[in-house]
Amino acid sequence: MALAITPVSVDDPDSLAAYCAVVKAVRDHDMPRWRDTTPRMAELQHAIQSPSGRLESHIAWRDGEPVGRVSFGITTQDNLDVMDADIWVIPAARRQGVGRELFEFSKQMAARLGRKRLFASSLWPIEGFPEPDLAGVEFANWLGAKPSLDDVARRLDLATADTASIDALFAGAQEKSAGYHLVQWIDAAPEEYAEDLAYLSGRLMTDAPMGELNLEAPKIDVARLRESEAAMIARERIGYHTGAVHTETGRMVAWTTITMEESLTWHGFQQITIVEPEHRGHRLGALVKVANLRFIQSEQPAVTAIDTFNAADNTYMIAINEAMGFRPLYSFQNWQLEL
Ligand SMILES: CC(C)(COP(=O)(O)OP(=O)(O)OC[C@H]1O[C@@H](n2cnc3c(N)ncnc32)[C@H](O)[C@@H]1OP(=O)(O)O)[C@@H](O)C(=O)NCCC(=O)NCCS
Repeated sequence: MALAITPVSVDDPDSLAAYCAVVKAVRDHDMPRWRDTTPRMAELQHAIQSPSGRLESHIAWRDGEPVGRVSFGITTQDNLDVMDADIWVIPAARRQGVGRELFEFSKQMAARLGRKRLFASSLWPIEGFPEPDLAGVEFANWLGAKPSLDDVARRLDLATADTASIDALFAGAQEKSAGYHLVQWIDAAPEEYAEDLAYLSGRLMTDAPMGELNLEAPKIDVARLRESEAAMIARERIGYHTGAVHTETGRMVAWTTITMEESLTWHGFQQITIVEPEHRGHRLGALVKVANLRFIQSEQPAVTAIDTFNAADNTYMIAINEAMGFRPLYSFQNWQLEL
């Protein structure tokens, strides 16, 4: 029987339930250690648009059963020629053409929105780990997509974290960072640092290794920073932030963030860490990261794991993460396809 492809809508609980069922089936099979997507997260991800874009998903149904989904990450301010198209098919329905149909649907969507490139990610082998299911790699190769950025997700397991090493890392960083002081906040940044943070977040994409991904840096001003914060709050995503201020000038020159979902209390995501180029070499990266880890641990004692992504060749950030106790969890390839 032919597939039916229908949109996920927050006004249609069946569509959200189908979305969650597909995500869970794929996660359980392909990456069982990955954090779960709670129904509330799925609902909010689709309901609340962020300033950089919106998420729109569609379910593939066969005989009344959800067998796959595609999620489009649709940029709305920068990079308007690209789109994420993340296709997942449940294990029981693979190699039956569902992925192919969802891809055809994605191409139509891209044409409608004037997008010329598609991005997607799949699992990728990582040294020292059992080989993951490489269906996504085979599928991407079959589509003619190009591997463009090799990313590794690492996890810090707080139950087994070596606090003595973390403390030593922090003490070493403190010694090298005289002349800077720390500021911490939850969710929205203090007004006096908003301009510095807008500047730092605009730099992120140019400073972090982006492999062969063909993307322009977003233009971020204070208004957009505030819109992002508001979207995070509306998504029930709590942000723990630590910044380092250059005491002499009063400028915030380093910044890091860990987020957690209100509906998933065991898990945090270590997001951005950035140090302004002129202020590198003072261990500010390690300083803000450890301080922020301690911050979320004291505010959210139920959090037992923190995950983070790094480009496989981001050796400086990986060295800090490994010193804190982050260890590889899964590796991903980011694919790019010119249409
Ligand atoms: C990748 C995925 C979406 C493929 O879905 P699917 O419905 O099985 O794909 P299709 O049946 O339409 O396959 C289309 C073609 O891709 C290739 N392909 C797909 N899976 C493959 C596999 N496991 N081994 C070899 N080739 C494969 C084949 O060329 C296939 O054509 P064929 O069956 O006529 O030989 C599915 O395995 C999945 O959800 N994996 C986990 C998430 C993921 O990695 N998504 C893709 C990211 S790029």
